[in-house]
Amino acid sequence: MLVVRDIDVSYGNIRALKGVSLEVQEKEIVCLLGANGAGKTTMMRAITKLRPIQRGTIEFMGQVLNDLSPAQIVRQGISCVPEGRKIFPEMTVLENLEMGAYPRGYTKAEMDENLDKVFALFPILKERMHQAGGTLSGGQQQMLAIGRALMARPRLLLLDEPSLGLAPLLVERVFEAIQQINQQEGITVLLAEQNARMAMRISQRGYVLVNGEITLSDTVEMLRNNEEVKKNYLGG
Ligand SMILES: Nc1ncnc2c1ncn2[C@@H]1O[C@H](COP(=O)(O)OP(=O)(O)OP(=O)(O)O)[C@@H](O)[C@H]1O
Ligand SMILES: [Mg+2]
Repeated sequence: MLVVRDIDVSYGNIRALKGVSLEVQEKEIVCLLGANGAGKTTMMRAITKLRPIQRGTIEFMGQVLNDLSPAQIVRQGISCVPEGRKIFPEMTVLENLEMGAYPRGYTKAEMDENLDKVFALFPILKERMHQAGGTLSGGQQQMLAIGRALMARPRLLLLDEPSLGLAPLLVERVFEAIQQINQQEGITVLLAEQNARMAMRISQRGYVLVNGEITLSDTVEMLRNNEEVKKNYLGG
């Protein structure tokens, strides 16, 4: 479904991704594991066209994305939940959700249908619908960021460290929701995480990114038993 082939992404002299390739098949949950600064966010930004690629190609459903704009990427069916949530704190929960659907140009009826789906997944967002996004707790803001991405009816959902800064119980709740989105809605997921243990619990396959290069790619069963993964990502 998604095929990233040999991409390079730089920030000035810093080469953040060096010849990275990865694939995500339809209906999979694939995790991208990596420490601080490995290049996970850069990968997400490359796919969503927020960062130009110097080399390589990105294909989605057989179409090359290289020359598309971020809004066109959303219209192709790729939505991203960015690192640090990036919700609009002054806007209400409802307005935040509507922003997610904006590039799609939905009718009122379609919009309501999308909202119903998001509210079914995260009832708390319905309760807090008219509250400013900034007044939500960290966990609720993460749910809002996921809900906002779902408003565009993605076929592929990119999540950049959804567990960041959340208490363990909330991490569980968020990961359950990701699994539900995948299983019930049939949405494919690419999940960047430092929390390898949690990410592998819901993923089928994973990639390990080290200093801008993929060093490992395998099923999670194989990754869990890999010495490098055990030592560096699972605490020995
Ligand atoms: N805006 C930027 N300007 C310059 N260098 C950057 C910028 N963003 C990222 N980098 C560098 O690119 C590399 C990859 O960073 P990136 O944010 O993609 O890593 P990451 O895996 O998402 O890390 P984290 O887990 O901390 O979010 C790092 O060396 C980082 O310092
Ligand atoms: Mg990051």
